[in-house]
Amino acid sequence: MVSSRFCLFFSLIPSLVAAQACQLQFDGRIDADLAAADFDVPNDIFSETFVIGQGLVFSKALRLLPAAAGSSFDVDIGAEPVEVLISDDSIFQDQVAFRRAELLPASNDGADASTQGVKTLHFSVLKDAVRPLNLSHEYQLVFLESQDFSTNQFVLKTGSILGQNTADPDTLQLFGNLNDGQLLFSTAFTAGVFHNFALTLDFDQLTTQVFFSRGGDALASVTDVLQNDVSGQGQFHFGVLKKPVGGVGDITQNGDQPDAINEGIIFGGIFQEDSADGCISLEP
Ligand SMILES: *[C@@H]1O[C@H](CO)[C@@H](O)[C@H](O)[C@H]1NC(C)=O
Repeated sequence: MVSSRFCLFFSLIPSLVAAQACQLQFDGRIDADLAAADFDVPNDIFSETFVIGQGLVFSKALRLLPAAAGSSFDVDIGAEPVEVLISDDSIFQDQVAFRRAELLPASNDGADASTQGVKTLHFSVLKDAVRPLNLSHEYQLVFLESQDFSTNQFVLKTGSILGQNTADPDTLQLFGNLNDGQLLFSTAFTAGVFHNFALTLDFDQLTTQVFFSRGGDALASVTDVLQNDVSGQGQFHFGVLKKPVGGVGDITQNGDQPDAINEGIIFGGIFQEDSADGCISLEP
């Protein structure tokens, strides 16, 4: 069997399926010849500026792993997974009660085509057994923040969600627009295996459909096409945003963050494809 990107639209035309079947909007998969320091300077993969602690550089907040350790969407093209790390110094601007470091696609300036039409966002997340999260806290791992910073149109969280009674904090919980607080999908956050997500975001119809798999399995839909207000454009974030506990009022400023933080999450297979014609890669 030919290893190829499965594409719903072109699936009846196998000769077109080989290599890249769907047109890419951005590609966050990292060539094996790149080093963490390449992300300290302008590059065509991720912003060298945002989001990182004051005075820090991305080479101190990123750890590149061998390509062989990648998600199936990385291994397919020999790309390296990347771990995003936080420490006590991961204080972005004046947000003294948050610890955060996030990768933003270089081409995603908040008003670009990645938040127009119909796009499918791919990413995979893996725990680091050596740098575990503290599940007493809430974390945002992947989100779209609107251009006016007023909401997240979707957000993948883990840990103890603030304002909720989280039954099992060791869960990946994907929420729709925070204005509605709709839980789109949740699944156990299992050690030692990549959790592969694809989100088809329809910026015209204002819907979201979630596809998911673990490890090397092909993605499968885990939701219907759900109403979800994805309007407002903005930027996609991939990383670790750790919220405080016990914060009152503005939690960017108030709440507890115990020190000696050494935490990280491993990302693979970050890319976005154009699904205006129904194209979506369910397997590499
Ligand atoms: C995890 O966070 C809680 C709440 O901030 C804190 O009390 C606890 O000491 C932390 N655990 C570790 C291992 O850091």
